[in-house]
Amino acid sequence: MSTEPPSPASQRRRQCVAATAAAAAACLAPVVVFLAVLILAPSLIPRLLLRPHHVLPYVASAELRLMSFDAAASALAYNLSAVLRFDDPPGLYARRYTGVKAAPFYAGQELGAAVALPEFTQRRGGGGATLPVAWAGVQRVTPGRRARSVAAALARERAQGWISVKVAVRAAQDGDESDFACLLSFPVPSKRDGSGSGATPVVFDGGSCADAARGEF
Ligand SMILES: *[C@@H]1O[C@H](CO)[C@@H](O)[C@H](O)[C@H]1NC(C)=O
Repeated sequence: MSTEPPSPASQRRRQCVAATAAAAAACLAPVVVFLAVLILAPSLIPRLLLRPHHVLPYVASAELRLMSFDAAASALAYNLSAVLRFDDPPGLYARRYTGVKAAPFYAGQELGAAVALPEFTQRRGGGGATLPVAWAGVQRVTPGRRARSVAAALARERAQGWISVKVAVRAAQDGDESDFACLLSFPVPSKRDGSGSGATPVVFDGGSCADAARGEF
């Protein structure tokens, strides 16, 4: 086996190849970074800067006038209203709200059909959107286990002095649909005549809504 050192010519050739490779790498690195930015930017920038996430609504105020269960009819009589608020969008562009609807639930029982709210467009600095909504009527509850659990929940809450109502809200923000759940806790309405009607409205002083799973309605 020959162990003589490489000839000066082959040494030069190797140095030359190494220098060329280093120059090519130095040249290509910025190109690769530039291409990556070019490919990723259009999808990332709007996400990061313009439409970071949806706006969570909140309940600015609410009133409960009636919530009573008629065991003979197996029905819940209800009358309540709320003022929903969507603050300004965080992004730079105006945002279009469509398919906005809201429905109250008591002890898992939906009260009537969801009320559809008008579409609107919101701009940065526009002061947010205020959406008053009211629900009133009589909701039949399936007799049996369902009715018993609703009646028991109402009796328990009345005894504790608070009535909890969940308001499910659905809204598409620039076509991106989200479901929210707003939990309202009202002091028990005091009855003027004991019949359940003519109750003094009780006011809820506002609270936030959280993201909810799909299919609340
Ligand atoms: C609900 O309460 C409001 C305010 O007291 C009243 O004007 C309205 O008629 C009530 N709705 C029903 C269906 O009872």
